Amino acid sequence: MNTISVKASENYNILIGNSILPQIGTLVSEIMPNRTVAIISDTNVWPLYGHIISKSLLDAGFSPIHMVFPAGEASKNIDTYLKILTFLADNKVTRTDLLVALGGGVVGDITGFAAATYLRGISYIQIPTSLLAMVDSSVGGKTAIDLPVGKNLVGAFKQPRLVLCDVDTLNTLPRPLFLDGCAEIIKYAMIYDSALFASLMQTGPAFDCTSVITKCVSLKRNVVQEDEFDIGMRQKLNFGHTIGHAIEVSSNYQLTHGQAVAAGMAIVTKAACRNNICQQDVYGNLIALLQKFSLPTKTDFSAEVLFLSALSDKKRSGDTVNLVIPNDIGRCEIVPVPVSELEDFIKAGL
Ligand SMILES: NC(=O)c1ccc[n+]([C@@H]2O[C@H](COP(=O)([O-])OP(=O)(O)OC[C@H]3O[C@@H](n4cnc5c(N)ncnc54)[C@H](O)[C@@H]3O)[C@@H](O)[C@H]2O)c1
Ligand SMILES: [Zn+2]
Repeated sequence: MNTISVKASENYNILIGNSILPQIGTLVSEIMPNRTVAIISDTNVWPLYGHIISKSLLDAGFSPIHMVFPAGEASKNIDTYLKILTFLADNKVTRTDLLVALGGGVVGDITGFAAATYLRGISYIQIPTSLLAMVDSSVGGKTAIDLPVGKNLVGAFKQPRLVLCDVDTLNTLPRPLFLDGCAEIIKYAMIYDSALFASLMQTGPAFDCTSVITKCVSLKRNVVQEDEFDIGMRQKLNFGHTIGHAIEVSSNYQLTHGQAVAAGMAIVTKAACRNNICQQDVYGNLIALLQKFSLPTKTDFSAEVLFLSALSDKKRSGDTVNLVIPNDIGRCEIVPVPVSELEDFIKAGL
């Protein structure tokens, strides 16, 4: 089992490896005295792993209770959030008790937001079970719910007390979702780590989960420690996301997040190469890697459609949009692109 320590507004460990779920009782008792533990999960994940966690917590002297909501992004809303808060209040969960998020990014984000706000804040643990949640959403303390007008518009920064990534849970994750999470792994390689890029090129999707997840988590940890509240370098993690998000929205969410981000990374890289701000061979190498992971490398949407959609991006500030542009594999910069030049930049990447 690998341990990554995070030193942010809350210090905590991220454990990554096999057979971690059955140890949760012991691991939690090392950081919290015996309390009520409220596990929040979804209808796909709870039936697979809920009993393992409940038994381990019971054996360690905790009192586990659970609430399960319908799986999927559609549940990451104010109704589910209210149901979670009501469930906690009905069960008289206090500020010294503990929440556990067991599931993918949806469960992690909404449980984290409940933890940030219930009784003005209560401790929580992340147990990510999707690849995306392990390498991205469970680390760094961003929590959120969606509004009908847009995703992740309400949230808070709230670091967990512990993150447990049991890679065995990935065995039940459907293949397309696994590949979706791989887009974020390729993102880390493009921004920070040419050695990771080279090793993914060798292995394709058959990489060693524990070591690759550990690498990504430690890269994200470094960013979070430097810029916990996302006002500087953390924006680099947005590589591929401004255009990716535009593709995701334009497709009416028919394309998954990872697919859209993959195409977004390819487009911004092609545009960077054409503008001579990126090493020329990077685009070809990125395309080859994305293809190894059966991820898209382009989009049929026009530059105009993507431009209009990108304008509503959260990373826009006044007349510029902060784009993360690769200079080489493993090296990116944040470039404020004037809105007046954005459509042409996107066009160069199509
Ligand atoms: N907080 C952050 O920093 C951050 C970062 C990136 C993404 N996100 C959020 O994460 C969410 C996407 O995360 P996601 O892709 O994990 O979505 P998700 O939570 O909806 O999980 C995807 C699907 O996989 C199922 N699933 C999860 N683990 C499984 C397993 N081990 N076996 C079988 N099925 C399993 C889920 O039930 C769901 O149906 C979005 O809401 C996004 O906004 C947050
Ligand atoms: Zn993403």
